[in-house]
Amino acid sequence: MRLNKFLSSSGVASRRKCDEIIRSGKVFVNGEVATLGTEINEKKDVVTIDGVRVKLPSNFVYLKLNKPKGYACTASDEKGRKTIFNLVDSKVRLFSVGRLDYNTEGLILLTNDGEFANLVMHPRFHFEKEYHVTVEGEVKESELAVLRNGVVENGIRMPKAKVKFLEYDGKNTKLSVVIEEGQNHQVRRMFDAIGKVIVLLKRVRIGMVKLGGLSRGKTKPMSQEEIASFMEE
Ligand code: URA
Repeated sequence: MRLNKFLSSSGVASRRKCDEIIRSGKVFVNGEVATLGTEINEKKDVVTIDGVRVKLPSNFVYLKLNKPKGYACTASDEKGRKTIFNLVDSKVRLFSVGRLDYNTEGLILLTNDGEFANLVMHPRFHFEKEYHVTVEGEVKESELAVLRNGVVENGIRMPKAKVKFLEYDGKNTKLSVVIEEGQNHQVRRMFDAIGKVIVLLKRVRIGMVKLGGLSRGKTKPMSQEEIASFMEE
């Protein structure tokens, strides 16, 4: 197996970042400094970074979590806030596939398979992310058109989005927003740009994996079909 694939499968970082780490001379295989093209036998060879052994997880775990509002997506939050890992009972160390903002709720995937996480997040594969966005007041058709074409923020056009009206309850409007790229705070920035206040932002789908009826704060293993749906791209 190529060393960069081994490192990213172990959850060190994306393959590209792993190449940088290898180039920096911190990675050793059986006591010898590794280079970019190094191939390893993952069953026998001893790989270390800064002297710490790196191992492939012995079995992979893939979970869906319905993240509630008020949880950070980091392993330990510098402000001491609750994190999504407080909600997960796992014997193995998991990490989240991408992030949701502290006040966003909904679907987030957790795994110990670094390759899988990198694949799902890689912009090249264009996995759709669908959000239900509840905003204050009514939203005009012309405002929906602006979101669909890509709002302009600080002179830069944001990616196009698929936007569908879902309901208006006399106070708030609920929309479905589908984006492919995940720039930081993308959905919030889109609505900021048209001057709309978000009351609730909830992710309901990633690729073909749906949040479904999973309760807030609960996890559920992904099905084989859901896992495979990302590999088939
Ligand atoms: N877009 C946002 O603005 N926030 C999220 O949490 C996810 C997408």
